[in-house]
Amino acid sequence: MRSRTCFLIIICLVVATIFLIFFEDQRPIGTIQSLVTETNKQFYKIKNFKDNLAISEQKKLITDDKYLKILGFVDNPRLYPHSVWRNSSLPIIVTAVQSGQLHHAVGFLRNIMTMLPNHSAVVYNLGLSNYDVKMLMKFCNSSKCFVIDLNYDLFPSHVAKLAIHAYRPVIIQDALNFAGAVLYMECDIRFSFGNITALVNKSLKTGIVLSEQEDVGVSNQKHAVTSLTHPKMFEYFQTVVDNFEFTPMISVRSMLVFNTEAIHKNIMLPWVQCALIQECIYPIGAQSDGCRFDKKPHFRYSGCHRYDESALNLVLGLHFGVDNVSLYSWDNSRTRLFFNVTDEVAEKEYFVLKSNLTGTS
Ligand SMILES: *[C@@H]1O[C@H](CO)[C@@H](O)[C@H](O)[C@H]1NC(C)=O
Ligand SMILES: *[C@@H]1O[C@H](CO)[C@@H](O)[C@H](O)[C@H]1NC(C)=O
Ligand SMILES: *[C@@H]1O[C@H](CO)[C@@H](O)[C@H](O)[C@H]1NC(C)=O
Ligand SMILES: *[C@@H]1O[C@H](CO)[C@@H](O)[C@H](O)[C@H]1NC(C)=O
Ligand SMILES: *[C@@H]1O[C@H](CO)[C@@H](O)[C@H](O)[C@H]1NC(C)=O
Ligand SMILES: *[C@@H]1O[C@H](CO)[C@@H](O)[C@H](O)[C@H]1NC(C)=O
Ligand SMILES: *[C@@H]1O[C@H](CO)[C@@H](O)[C@H](O)[C@H]1NC(C)=O
Ligand SMILES: *[C@@H]1O[C@H](CO)[C@@H](O)[C@H](O)[C@H]1NC(C)=O
Repeated sequence: MRSRTCFLIIICLVVATIFLIFFEDQRPIGTIQSLVTETNKQFYKIKNFKDNLAISEQKKLITDDKYLKILGFVDNPRLYPHSVWRNSSLPIIVTAVQSGQLHHAVGFLRNIMTMLPNHSAVVYNLGLSNYDVKMLMKFCNSSKCFVIDLNYDLFPSHVAKLAIHAYRPVIIQDALNFAGAVLYMECDIRFSFGNITALVNKSLKTGIVLSEQEDVGVSNQKHAVTSLTHPKMFEYFQTVVDNFEFTPMISVRSMLVFNTEAIHKNIMLPWVQCALIQECIYPIGAQSDGCRFDKKPHFRYSGCHRYDESALNLVLGLHFGVDNVSLYSWDNSRTRLFFNVTDEVAEKEYFVLKSNLTGTS
């Protein structure tokens, strides 16, 4: 009697194990991992053939050649290290300023000129008033300082909607195309010291390094790419949401890029293409606020989309591997190379600089 019970229990265990193994195999994560090795860092295959067909029929990264040509995506592109600015230390430092950000622009230029005097500084003007541009030029008084007006007429109309940041990939590519290596920073970021050797070293290995996101979510966990990316965007990159559930989102507030052939073809091209397709960078229903990070599991879409930042995180994950974030991320909390300035601090600094300016002239 006892042995029969034992036998039954064993049978049950075996059946349960077979059951588990079977369902384990069905889990997407297993499929994806084997695919990752098979496809050898190519864009991932989709886990389901039917989905794949439906997706590739609908969503493609196709952009008009005329836009791509303007940005240097041509048959013989200018690439690092051959076609670069030789009259300035590289990378050049690039930022973008909108209407009402003159104080940040001036503080930014002062910071670059003191900390990295041998590097050129380039400010893209997204919409400063004529008066503000005149003021800015007074502080942009060196041969290594440039102000460039972004000409929205050259690009699809949504690029002028600054809230969706389609301009960011566009200006970074524009600067890469002429200078060869670009350190992009938002205009409210400053250097706390002038030694970027370690940052440059790190980015030379892969060609691109972004700052790690410093605002962390619940229980000190970094936000997953999936929690800050509208589900529709994944389709443009022929991938599915599940692939990115455990990939932390990296910030584009500061990033160092070298215009190598691999970066040009595999990172900048798809990133710029997505930015130029309104439905890719700004899927219907996407918004940037009202995030809800209290949803469980934590990788669920929070309701907030990060536009160009979401797109770049997808491109980087697909190229370097979704579990390889350390290859392209820079942990600023160790070195504190970068810091933020608030509007108040920047306004005060601008006030002092401006009064010194009028005092001398
Ligand atoms: C800038 O370049 C000059 C001339 O090449 C060099 O002497 C100087 O040390 C450089 N300054 C910095 C801060 O790297
Ligand atoms: C470097 O040279 C290019 C032309 O080759 C010029 O357009 C650019 O303004 C120069 N940059 C600096 C910092 O002088
Ligand atoms: C810059 O920092 C590195 C360490 O990160 C150091 O080895 C190097 O000497 C520093 N360079 C200068 C000019 O201070
Ligand atoms: C950067 O790399 C060079 C050569 O690969 C090395 O000599 C130097 O020590 C590195 N510097 C830092 C700060 O890591
Ligand atoms: C700088 O500001 C950004 C956005 O406002 C924020 O996400 C980030 O955590 C700030 N970084 C630091 C070091 O305070
Ligand atoms: C992560 O990077 C390593 C080293 O470059 C590479 O061998 C590996 O395939 C990458 N992982 C994925 C998932 O692509
Ligand atoms: C502005 O002028 C004051 C007094 O002339 C001087 O102490 C200060 O260093 C100047 N500030 C800057 C940023 O040049
Ligand atoms: C540029 O302007 C600033 C602020 O007025 C001044 O301190 C600096 O000496 C000027 N530099 C040159 C090269 O004229």
